[in-house]
Amino acid sequence: MKRVFSGIKPTGHLTLGNYLGAMRRWAAVDQHQADALFCVVDLHALTVDHDPARVRRLSRQTATLLLAAGLDPELCTVFVQSHVDEHTRLSYVLECVATDGEMRRMIQYKEKAARERARGGSVRLSLLTYPVLMAADILAYGSDEVPVGDDQVQHVELTRDLAVRFNQRYGHTFVVPRATRPGVAARVMNLQDPTSKMGKSDDVGPGVVYLLDEPDVVRKKVMRAVTDSGQDVVYDRETQPGLANLLEILAACTGGEPEELSGAYASYGDLKKDTAEAVIETLRPLRERHRELCADPSYVEGVLAAGAGKARAMARPVVDAAYRAIGLLPPVVEPVLNAAR
Ligand code: TYM
Repeated sequence: MKRVFSGIKPTGHLTLGNYLGAMRRWAAVDQHQADALFCVVDLHALTVDHDPARVRRLSRQTATLLLAAGLDPELCTVFVQSHVDEHTRLSYVLECVATDGEMRRMIQYKEKAARERARGGSVRLSLLTYPVLMAADILAYGSDEVPVGDDQVQHVELTRDLAVRFNQRYGHTFVVPRATRPGVAARVMNLQDPTSKMGKSDDVGPGVVYLLDEPDVVRKKVMRAVTDSGQDVVYDRETQPGLANLLEILAACTGGEPEELSGAYASYGDLKKDTAEAVIETLRPLRERHRELCADPSYVEGVLAAGAGKARAMARPVVDAAYRAIGLLPPVVEPVLNAAR
């Protein structure tokens, strides 16, 4: 059975982009077809200015939302990254395979570092090395596939490069993974600025639909979405990015095709109305399940504890093999030590 791994960062409230681009497929497809692991990657949330209490809160909320979205601990492994030491153990070894030039070429690093510097802040070293930790997340589990939205594909490509390089230099150790993307809504855009991604780190988000937004709030945000000048509803990402975004969201929520759907609308208003209702209906079961799970926090804690145990057992032999392959001396086990005394 193939192995699938993916992760989500607790840096903000989860968005419709996270759901349509990634989580929904994890629940509907991946957990049924693969030996799948889904991780709340909390260490990644420390790469930018953060509030410790908020990261803790968001980690719990993210795990709860993963379960609310339909991840079933009977079918897959759900856990928190910092509960499994193997990620950071492997990350250091991979830093010895990666180059600083490679890191500096990563689009997300360039964008986030530029934003941070423009604000007069400093850039954490971990922001630069972040993709190596992400590679460790993936490679520690011998993952074949990594289901992600468009924005993470470059990081998965880097992961492939590091795996191939390590295997060539030190002997076959890692499975070389590949990214898988959804057919539609691989890049959900901000409703107020359809040229930039709908991101959870935007604290104030009139253009961001959060998974826990009340239906009225979703309706308002979608109805106020920026659309393009022109009269006709056409699907063209280049010239009509606002409309294309709405058509893709509608298609993802209803199972249609954006191009075909565009022919069904004579006005922007009708398209927005239907898109808003489709989003509300898509999120309804998730919101209800989230409410139930919040009433039973010990259930979520139990899932995470069991998940970490399973994940540790899977990652340990892979990371140990990487340590041996790269030249680290195996620790001497207790009985041998005692015999030598
Ligand atoms: P993160 O937390 O930003 O996003 C989690 C997943 O949601 C997808 N996504 C989107 N898809 C479509 N449209 C959007 N607007 C949108 N916003 C987010 C992302 O592509 C992602 O699949 N670096 C990763 C977390 C990570 C990871 C990993 C992922 C760490 N280690 C190992 C896979 C495997 C991140 O920041 O995702």
